Amino acid sequence: MVFPTFPTFPLLLGPTPLHDLPRFSAWLNAGIEVWIKRDDLTPYALGGNKLRKLTYLVADALDKGATDLVTTGAAQSNHCRQTAAAAARAGLGCHLVLRGRPEDRPGGNVLLDHLFGATLHWADAQDTTAAMAALVAGLEAAGRRPYAIPLGGSTPLGAVGYAFAWLELAEQARAAGVTFADVVFAPSSGGTQAGLAVGAAATGFTGRLHGISVDRSAAVLETITGPLTAATAALLGRADAYPVVIHDAYLGAGYGVMAAAEREAILALARREGILADPVYTGRALAGLIDLARRGELRSPVLFWHTGGAPALFAYERELLEGAFLSNVPALER
Ligand SMILES: Cc1ncc(COP(=O)(O)O)c(C=O)c1O
Repeated sequence: MVFPTFPTFPLLLGPTPLHDLPRFSAWLNAGIEVWIKRDDLTPYALGGNKLRKLTYLVADALDKGATDLVTTGAAQSNHCRQTAAAAARAGLGCHLVLRGRPEDRPGGNVLLDHLFGATLHWADAQDTTAAMAALVAGLEAAGRRPYAIPLGGSTPLGAVGYAFAWLELAEQARAAGVTFADVVFAPSSGGTQAGLAVGAAATGFTGRLHGISVDRSAAVLETITGPLTAATAALLGRADAYPVVIHDAYLGAGYGVMAAAEREAILALARREGILADPVYTGRALAGLIDLARRGELRSPVLFWHTGGAPALFAYERELLEGAFLSNVPALER
């Protein structure tokens, strides 16, 4: 084994599928073959990348005798939804500090947070990290043993999940006889990127890793991923990590604002392959992939690492149902 092993709590149950996207590749018409790694199909809470981190974080929480998981995120946080499910599976309480205000009719991820039995704490103008610290202190004062998980589960231990995910991919790619030249994914809190970078270095990857930023400039993202990647490598006994090319040209009007590029990407994947990308992360990352491919900047074969998020589609009903959106996309006719 390339890495030392760490205790896990079973939230994965096996590798996620890797397969090609022939109809999407044909639609793209850029002379490249696109494949997909289906981390949207991890087995709990409608899937997503956070379960790979939580498999290590929940094991650590149980080891420390925790009674509750506490974490934070945007209102439509996929991380919070998966944490709520992981807590249910592990028999732990779950407290979520969500940015924003409660809606009359909770939709998308918030609806699912409720279904998983999480207690929601809304922090509007308040700093969510400070709100989480206050919540943890309050739970401790009440005799509970909360286990605090920072934004996105992006600690070095959480990122270990993506170093192992890279080994999983490397084995599947070898078995399929494919050597990826470019790998595209959506980084945000940095854990996915840190793990992939350590994994890629450890397996002697020779292609390129592309992170399509969804919320931050490349320089700001680097201040997060740089130290996190180094700490993840150290935890895994490695001295090096693979470089990641960060693209911050696709931020549009900002985090969570779906526009024409994301819509095109979501529709292309849905109508050509029957796969759902999300409005915030994977839709934007796929839009970046599409643009880079059209500019001739990607080399075949390309891997799109799907990190989940589709439940958020149900919080974007208005944007998705706009007449112009669904009817006026001639390039997407079958
Ligand atoms: C669907 C989806 N993709 C990508 C990411 C980014 O992953 P990370 O936070 O590890 O950078 C997230 C994080 O919230 C996500 O929910």
